[in-house]
Amino acid sequence: MDRAKNPFSPGAGTPPPELAGRATILDNALVALERVKNGRAEKSMILVGLRGVGKTVLLGEAQRLAEKAGYRVAFIEAHESRQKKTLAELLIPHLRRILFDLDRGEKISDKAKKALRVFKSFMSALKLKTGDLEFYLDMDAEKGEADSGDLEVDLAALFVAIGEAAKDRHTAVAIIIDELQYVEETEVSALIMAIHRVSQRSLPLILIGAGLPQLRAKAGNSKSYAERLFAYPEVGALNKQDAIAALQRPVQELSVSFSDEALNEIYDTTKGYPYFVQEWGYHAWNTAQQSPIGRNDITEASKLSIANLDKSFFRTRFDRLTPSEKKYVRALAELGSTPQRSGDIAAKLGKTVEQVAALRAQLISKGMIYSPAHGDTAFTVPLIEEFLMREIPVFSAKEQY
Ligand SMILES: Nc1ncnc2c1ncn2[C@@H]1O[C@H](COP(=O)(O)OP(=O)(O)O)[C@@H](O)[C@H]1O
Ligand SMILES: [Mg+2]
Repeated sequence: MDRAKNPFSPGAGTPPPELAGRATILDNALVALERVKNGRAEKSMILVGLRGVGKTVLLGEAQRLAEKAGYRVAFIEAHESRQKKTLAELLIPHLRRILFDLDRGEKISDKAKKALRVFKSFMSALKLKTGDLEFYLDMDAEKGEADSGDLEVDLAALFVAIGEAAKDRHTAVAIIIDELQYVEETEVSALIMAIHRVSQRSLPLILIGAGLPQLRAKAGNSKSYAERLFAYPEVGALNKQDAIAALQRPVQELSVSFSDEALNEIYDTTKGYPYFVQEWGYHAWNTAQQSPIGRNDITEASKLSIANLDKSFFRTRFDRLTPSEKKYVRALAELGSTPQRSGDIAAKLGKTVEQVAALRAQLISKGMIYSPAHGDTAFTVPLIEEFLMREIPVFSAKEQY
């Protein structure tokens, strides 16, 4: 098939040609956006799911819906350690843009001016140096607001001021945060308290987040608030019907089709995980000489897809692990593709649960594994156990990888 016309789009955050199986989540997001904008009580939304299920794509969609509904949007992405910025550092450039925007208008808005002053005091309290920022904020800070130095108090004051400014301008603000599991627990807590304050006052500010399942444990002390304030839609693999739609519709647009056997084969191999569906669709298209794309094409496409995933999707995650972490995940892979008891993994390594507890915690904070239930451990990356078996064919507790 003509490679230039290939409709599939494997890649982190790349919108698929057919966004299958997400109608309910998008509907709910749209309703939440409308309600919050109109000052009605509504939960903020945090999408939870494994890698490659389409969370980032959904956040992109949410951004589009929000902008269409007249929102000002801040879209940020948290990162794992090292090059890590604080939540405040990530938010500041976006909030500054939104605040300047709210300050513009025919009539002067006292609320918008005040929000800028609160923003200035927020920054001065955190002693943040973000380039030319001070220079542009040629006004007094709002003394006593958002300047305690305690993020939990200050972020709430800032969000309230922004919410009031947005309300005054008959608009709304959406704060969208991807990879929320990498945000520090104290910062997540502050975020929750800020949303709490905003929703108590029915202000038009919503948080839409996404992250790996470990982020559920991050609410910390604010847990009871978090449960009332947030809905946690789960984003998972596509069911068979949706996976078929994700493959068949884009090619039918181009007067091509997949045979039923080809579709069955792809579904069985990918288990309906969106990233893999795109990868297989992509290689199937390039492999096939003619329509319909058949079972034999999928055999070839599978080889290419696996080779490619091993080089990229799986490899990048694996390469970030230390030798002991590699050994831990290889032991987990040895036990199977379902969640495993942490005790069984430790036993495979010839260690006690206590001896590997720190290692396990590190792997959770790196976003490699999570705990689906107390004492259980599972991969956050679907099908990575198969990669690990290919990468390290024979497991030995003594070997260094
Ligand atoms: N509903 C869907 N149907 C088909 N493909 C999808 C769907 N959602 C996402 N994808 C594809 O899956 C891949 C991973 O999406 P991404 O949003 O990066 O996942 P995540 O953020 O959960 O890791 C992308 O190639 C994207 O095009
Ligand atoms: Mg993502």
